[in-house]
Parts: sequence; C-alpha cells; structure tokens
Amino acid sequence: MAREVVLCEQHSYSRGQPSAFTRIAITGQHPVLAASVATALGVGGLDVQITDKPDAVTEELVVTAALGNGNDRDVHWLALSQAREFHRSGGQSLILLQDTGGNFHEGPSQGWRGGMAALTRTAALEWPEMQIRCIDIAVDPADVSGTAQRLLTALATGLPLVGIDLSGRVYALQVGKALSPSANAVATTPTAPSDVWLVSGGARGVTAACIEALAQRSTARFALLGRSVPAEWPENIEKTSDIKVLRRQLALNAVASGERPVPSDIERSARHALAGQEIREALERLKAAGVSARYYPCDIANRQQVHDVVALIHSELGQVTALVHGAGVLADSLIVDKTKAQFDRVFDTKVVGLQNLLIALGDAPLSHAALFSSAAAFYGNTGQSDYAMANEVLNRVAQSLKKRFPKATVKSFNWGPWDSGMVDQTLARYFEERGIGLISLQAGAALFVDEMLAGDRHGVELLVGDAWVDDVANSSAG
Ligand SMILES: NC(=O)c1ccc[n+]([C@@H]2O[C@H](COP(=O)([O-])OP(=O)(O)OC[C@H]3O[C@@H](n4cnc5c(N)ncnc54)[C@H](OP(=O)(O)O)[C@@H]3O)[C@@H](O)[C@H]2O)c1
Repeated sequence: MAREVVLCEQHSYSRGQPSAFTRIAITGQHPVLAASVATALGVGGLDVQITDKPDAVTEELVVTAALGNGNDRDVHWLALSQAREFHRSGGQSLILLQDTGGNFHEGPSQGWRGGMAALTRTAALEWPEMQIRCIDIAVDPADVSGTAQRLLTALATGLPLVGIDLSGRVYALQVGKALSPSANAVATTPTAPSDVWLVSGGARGVTAACIEALAQRSTARFALLGRSVPAEWPENIEKTSDIKVLRRQLALNAVASGERPVPSDIERSARHALAGQEIREALERLKAAGVSARYYPCDIANRQQVHDVVALIHSELGQVTALVHGAGVLADSLIVDKTKAQFDRVFDTKVVGLQNLLIALGDAPLSHAALFSSAAAFYGNTGQSDYAMANEVLNRVAQSLKKRFPKATVKSFNWGPWDSGMVDQTLARYFEERGIGLISLQAGAALFVDEMLAGDRHGVELLVGDAWVDDVANSSAG
C-alpha cells in the first residue's frame, strides 16, 4: 500500500534545444538570473523579454516567483496568479522555477518555497492543452551566468519535472520500492513515558485514529491541538454522530422552545456539538489505551497562540520531543476560480501552521516528526492547486527536517484518500469513479505507527494508497 518517493539521477535524456518557441518571457522576481537567461537564450536567436505581464504573442513563460522575495505563502500565490494570467492570454508553454537545491532536497529556502512541482502537476490536469514544466534550479549567486547555462541544460532535457544541482547533475523524483507491511514489527525507535508528542489536528479525523493506534504501542504523553473549543452535548438530544439527525433534533428543540430555527445557527451548533463529541471520545480512547493525553484549543495559523500553547504544554506535560502535523483544510476550486482567501486558508493551516509550530518548538531536537501530506502533492489534483502546493511544501520541508535532525524518524505521508476525515461522500465518489481505493482507518493508522516506530529511518517521503496515474512521476505533467 505504501511506496517511497525517491530522487533519481537522470543519465539518459535528450540534449535538444532549450525551447521550441521563439517568443519567450521571464518574470522579474529574480532580475539578475532573468537577465542572464535572457542573454543566454538571445544568443540562440530567441526573442526574450523580462516582464510580469507578457503580451498576447508570448508563447512561453518562465515564472521566477519562487526565486524572489516575499513571504513563502505569497510567492506561491504569485506563481499561481502569473500562471493563470498566462493561461488566460493563450500562452502555450509554462515553466515554473524553484530552488530546492536542484535535487528537491536542499537549497536556501529549506523547502518552504518548494511547491512548484505540485502546481505544475495540477495545472497540467486542469489545462491539458498547455505544456507545463517545473525546474528545480540550484541558483549560485556567485555564478549567475553558470546558473543560466545549467537552466538551459535542464530546459533542453525536455523533462516535465526535473532538477539540476550546482554540479550539473540532473534529477527527477520517482516512485521507489514498495514498503513491506510489518504488522507486528518491533519498535526500533520506541517512545518513553517522558516523551511528549505534539499533534496538530490530533483530536479529530484520521490523525486522531493514527494517534490512537500509536498509543496502543507507546507510553508517551500526547498534546492534541485543534481550533474547536469542545462544547457540551446539547441538552435533551440523544447522542448521534449523524449531522442530519442532529440538525433535525436541534431545529425541533428550537421550535419546541418557541424559537424560529435559523439554518446557519443550527448548522453551527450541530458542527460544534459533533466536534466536541469527537474530541471527548478521542481523549477517552487514549485514556483507555493507558496514555496521558490533553487537548489544547489553538489555531496553529496564529503564531502567538502557538507560542503560548507550546509554553503551556512544556509546563504541564514536559518538553515536546516529537511532532505530528496533521491539521489541514480544503478549499477546492479550479485555478481559474481560486481566490486568495481560499488559498490563504489552505496555506495558513498547512504551511504557516507548521512554521509556527517549529518556531515555537525552537532548537530542541525531535525524535520523531510526521507531516500529513497528500498524494495530491505528488500527482496533482483538479481543484486542489493550493492544497497540492501546500502539501508539496511539507514534503520538501520534511527533507530539511531530516537534515536538521539526522537521528530522528522524519516522514512525510502523502496519503491517498481515506474512508474518513475530510473525504466526504462526494469526494469518496470522485475517487472511487477513478478506481482509486479508499484507505481504511485501521490500515492507514497501522501503517502510520509501523512507519513511525519501526520504519526505515532514511526514507522520508512516502506515497500511501493506490496510484492515481502512471507511476512515473514525470508522466503526470506536460
Ligand atoms: N482524509 C483524507 O483522505 C486525507 C488524504 C490526504 C491527506 N490528508 C491529510 O491528513 C490530515 C487530516 O485530515 P482529515 O481527513 O482527518 O481532516 P479533518 O477530519 O478535516 O481534520 C482536520 C483536523 O485539523 C484540525 N485543524 C484544521 N485547521 C486547524 C488550525 N488552523 N489549527 C489547528 N487545528 C486545525 C481540525 O480541528 P478543528 O476543526 O477543531 O480545528 C481537525 O482536527 C490533513 O492534513 C489532510 O490534509 C487526509
């Protein structure tokens, strides 16, 4: 069910022309590199302009947003916006650049600007008429013309998703070997009673199921974070997990007490009540498993709240020794319709949330780190450009975390769809119609525990579930 995502050096690729087009534009977020590339392409007789607003006759656009200034979230939005404008104006070929060391692992941004591959894959699904590529280029500030030449080499490979490092080696990310299930594997990285696992999103959804399974094989303490403030179950209503039943009961109760039920209020109360119940049940199950667990209401997108809650956890439970970042939200819509508000909501939870957690945790080493990413990052997914990019950033940051904490077990789980959590009936049908099976709570949680406690400590990026397209990553774009 799970395979590793591995970096493969590419030896056989075409060494053709850097571009099949004659009218090319480069956006100006890295002006020095853009000028150098324009000069290098101009030598070959191509018409190259440096502009963020290419004219209608421009055939190919090289987007340098992820190489420029600005915060990590906004450079992704800028890249998406520039790609969208170019698509609108009838552009034929789009090339998105990032610098994660040319090997999808290193580079100056430590992965925080590493979402371009996922935008490439999603845009390729949404705009099949366009040729879309991503190049991870290691920019050498001391040798920009050398960087431009390496970029031309990468362009000439024709590969849709490729990296080129400082020494000119060419790489691609591909699906590697299947991980063998280790149902009763002995923990090679066991936990101790003094260990404290901080888990964003840990009291609800699939992350709660993973933590419950972990608690069966661990003696650690758990601090679970979520935005919901657990509400008491509404009076005079029988417990249920069915939101339709609860809505009806709340409306009937309102009528019985002489009020006029307002649908938006009923909806809010129902969701609030169900969230509270889900959190209480998760805590009860952890207690029954014999571990100590507490829930802390906290919006991880808010840096001050995260700072304060981590300080509280340190004083109540002890120093945090392991991190699971499971918080996430969806705001699906096609790139052409994507709003900044939707984009920010998704990025602020996944990416800014992780930044806030890591800042609050400081320099203390972690023994384990698990980031809940998505197969949408690896394959792209229609309507999920923001979600795919944010999850791809998690994959790149996981690689940096592994370098920062080499002894730790660091895993980025690119989950396929589960039969639970944020996958509602509509999404479940969407995947089933495409022949992509759903991961059961039991199987996904068992895999999580096996990988965290007894998995290969060197494998960082895992792809879990059925393949969405042909297994060769590069075939999903272009
Ligand atoms: N389910 C799947 O099929 C699937 C597939 C691929 C990847 N994943 C990933 O797995 C993770 C869990 O997914 P799920 O399906 O269990 O989703 P879910 O049921 O919607 O749960 C999401 C969790 O994140 C918390 N959360 C959201 N925003 C937050 C914020 N700003 N601060 C703190 N907590 C926040 C939620 O709690 P509150 O609402 O109380 O804040 C909830 O506990 C996500 O990262 C998701 O991207 C899931």
